[in-house]
Amino acid sequence: MFPERFSNLPAYAFPRLRSLLDAHSPGGPVAHMTIGEPKHAFPDWITEIIVGNAHEFGKYPPNEGSPELCAAIAAWVRQRYGVALNPDTDVMTLNGTREGLYNAAMALCPEEKAGKKPVILMPNPFYQVYMVAAISVGAEPVFVPATAATGHLPDYTRLPAEVLDRTALAYICSPANPQGAVADRSYWQHLIALAEKHDFRILADECYSEIYRDAAPVGALQVARETGADPERVVIFHSLSKRSNLPGLRSGFVAGGPQSIARIRQLRAYAGAPLPLPLQRVAEKVWADETHVVENRRLYQDKYAVADRIFGDVPGYLPPEAGFFLWLPVKDGEAAALKLWTETGVRVLPGAYLSRATQDGTPGAGHIRVAMVAPMDELKDGLGRLRDCLYGD
Ligand SMILES: Cc1ncc(COP(=O)(O)O)c(C=O)c1O
Repeated sequence: MFPERFSNLPAYAFPRLRSLLDAHSPGGPVAHMTIGEPKHAFPDWITEIIVGNAHEFGKYPPNEGSPELCAAIAAWVRQRYGVALNPDTDVMTLNGTREGLYNAAMALCPEEKAGKKPVILMPNPFYQVYMVAAISVGAEPVFVPATAATGHLPDYTRLPAEVLDRTALAYICSPANPQGAVADRSYWQHLIALAEKHDFRILADECYSEIYRDAAPVGALQVARETGADPERVVIFHSLSKRSNLPGLRSGFVAGGPQSIARIRQLRAYAGAPLPLPLQRVAEKVWADETHVVENRRLYQDKYAVADRIFGDVPGYLPPEAGFFLWLPVKDGEAAALKLWTETGVRVLPGAYLSRATQDGTPGAGHIRVAMVAPMDELKDGLGRLRDCLYGD
């Protein structure tokens, strides 16, 4: 049995999906469109770097990241966002963003805020680690709808002052998984002003920042610096998983104000699992290379065009601004996923599995999430079957 605080934790999205689908045979050739695991090629030169540095598997890796990797990350942030970071104090490497998003709450959420149990805000639907982090630190997760009515991003500015005063941390995902919405400069300005007013930190999950349609999404730290906000207000999370098709490398970083990063670094010195040094050497070179990122983005831009062509006339179709998911409207996401599987063999995720049921309903229940990660031919075939099955006349 779980401790009490985890007792209401639903099964993770993918076991739930297996329970829904696996008792039934697929109705056609199986097409996996559930998990956001990139399938485009990663740079082929990384193998050489691992081999060339393999002797460093014999060393304990530095907790916060090698100086060279932290410098490469700071250089990337500067060229991407125009923000100057001190690699010695403002950056920390992660084993992918997921654990960082979890551990940052450990380091940054106080026991009390405004004399009460602290609140951690998160969008709904959302990347599930935000909720588990909030529960783990004894905070109250507050799920804020991110639906068509709010531009598919949570509107934290409309929360009651009592909730905002208790807020210690606010997770925000831009570009958003699952909707593909992007927070623009004005969104960030309002959120940062709110955080200043009610004294909370923004944890900005930006791991899809390099996969976009037209314009590069503006960054949370970039806007915070432009507006002269307290440097501790915003903490950003980035990853090589999506940018560079290296989900198995488990490499990302967190960056922000020196006090936030010092706390994250200190806690991880006790309990963290630093990235092996040969893999840090790889990450250093991958952050420094943009050629493969441009090519990767072009492949996704071709996929947006295919999706627009196939679903453009479906009422409520939301062309993703960024990321690689389609968030398609259906009557009931579970029923649609089951029908699609049993009639065509295409496997997608019901939106409810990424959402939390609240008094106002389950925001993702009328959607399915479709990962556009497969090679183009497979993708076209799968999306075509999906269209015929769920939106055919
Ligand atoms: C929104 C979001 N944040 C974070 C992650 C974690 O990615 P990683 O730990 O591979 O960096 C994912 C992965 O799917 C994601 O979709």
